[in-house]
Amino acid sequence: MGRKMLQGLVATALAAFPLVNGQQPGSLTPEAHPHLATWKCTTSGGCVQQDTSVVLDWNYRWFHNADGSTSCTTSSGVDPTLCPDEATCSKNCFVEGVNYTSSGVATSGSALTLKQYVKGSDGKTNSVSPRAYLLGPDGNYVMLKLLGQELSFDVDLSTLPCGENAALYLSEMDATGGRNEYNKGGANYGSGYCDAQCPVQNWNNGTLNTARRGSCCNEMDILEANAKANAFTPHPCIGDNCDKGGCGFNPYALGYKNYYGPGFTLDTSKPFTMITRFVTNDGTTTGSLNEIRRFYVQNGKTIASAAPGGDTIKASACSSAASYGGLAGMGAALGRGMVLTFSIWNDNSGFMNWLDSGSNGPCSDTEGNPANILANHPDTHVVLSNIRWGDIGSTVNISGGGPNPSASTTSAATVPTSTTTAPAHAQTHWGQCGGNGWSGMTACASPYTCTVLNPYFSQCL
Ligand SMILES: *[C@@H]1O[C@H](CO)[C@@H](O)[C@H](O)[C@H]1NC(C)=O
Ligand SMILES: *[C@@H]1O[C@H](CO)[C@@H](O)[C@H](O)[C@H]1NC(C)=O
Ligand SMILES: *[C@@H]1O[C@H](CO)[C@@H](O)[C@H](O)[C@H]1NC(C)=O
Repeated sequence: MGRKMLQGLVATALAAFPLVNGQQPGSLTPEAHPHLATWKCTTSGGCVQQDTSVVLDWNYRWFHNADGSTSCTTSSGVDPTLCPDEATCSKNCFVEGVNYTSSGVATSGSALTLKQYVKGSDGKTNSVSPRAYLLGPDGNYVMLKLLGQELSFDVDLSTLPCGENAALYLSEMDATGGRNEYNKGGANYGSGYCDAQCPVQNWNNGTLNTARRGSCCNEMDILEANAKANAFTPHPCIGDNCDKGGCGFNPYALGYKNYYGPGFTLDTSKPFTMITRFVTNDGTTTGSLNEIRRFYVQNGKTIASAAPGGDTIKASACSSAASYGGLAGMGAALGRGMVLTFSIWNDNSGFMNWLDSGSNGPCSDTEGNPANILANHPDTHVVLSNIRWGDIGSTVNISGGGPNPSASTTSAATVPTSTTTAPAHAQTHWGQCGGNGWSGMTACASPYTCTVLNPYFSQCL
């Protein structure tokens, strides 16, 4: 909308609503959260529909001064005059609601669709790359407590090409989004984001981040995928020390190259159900997280795992994460409760090679260039639906009940996931075993594990 019209609207809005102090929600665009049906399930009581909606992240919003003429955020941070400190900023600045349609977010019943690109009113295609959270009826995030529990959902990744990443994951954000006297919107306006990559944001846990501190917290990646590659990865943290690489499971990287993809065992040209179980040592919801176990259902059938011992991450495979709390630390966060996060994104610098190229997937190292995606796949989008969580075995009806989690705990110990298909030649301790552009050895000599330190360098540790 034009500035003139905007100012007219602002004047109307100011006349209609007396100014309140604080970095208050503005009144130009109402914040109307799209409803999304989800279910919480128990073995004894079945599944109960939850009163949930989605809220777009705070960083995607317009922060402006009282007359709407000046933005409070700049390309490098916040306007130093309007926002020298939290109290002044909260008096001067307003955070707006968003138009979810033009932000690439739509819901219908239990289905959430996220689009990478949206055509603006000027006819131009914008990369909107939304990130959104599951919100409860009280205006706080829904805290999913998944230790000793499972999470399942349906996903359609058929339109996501190489380089695109549809993500569903959990971050240990504050339930209120860090709502405080200066930030009354809080989770209602999507504030408080954090993850294990410790992003530096203008606000940290809802408070103006004048110290430019990273927002670090435990992160559990359930889905990071396109039609050609996928991975699930725990990223535990101790304080601001996070396992940025994580001890993930990517079937292609482990040697199962014809398992996941269009027309493969798990056929990504069609929707499927993804079930993730967080199995504890004692089977309770308070034990120590021992194993993260994944399986899939497609066309009513359980899809056999890629790996012989099951698609699983065991505590022992996460020894590199020990200094960040390991799988047990991840489990403790899952027990306290984490926020369900949805996003779709691509990557201008690394082209998502860490997910789908080189030893990680079948894509070339340049086809994930966002310019290529925009030119050839402007309609790329993900549909996530039927989100359910609760007791293990309660969120999906499968004949036979699906893989038995307790059986796998004992039998799969004999299947070392990272060395099952190791070629005869393996990299030695400290040697490089992967990374963007790496075409050398990808297997590590026993007992070392190829560990991603960053998208450009993996090392046998
Ligand atoms: C949101 O934006 C879309 C265009 O993307 C427009 O058609 C719609 O009217 C807008 N909704 C509201 C409530 O302004
Ligand atoms: C985030 O903010 C909330 C609300 O002010 C506070 O209770 C919580 O302790 C904060 N969390 C962290 C990690 O600072
Ligand atoms: C499984 O089937 C039972 C009986 O038909 C039904 O009550 C229950 O809601 C179903 N659970 C799920 C997760 O679909």
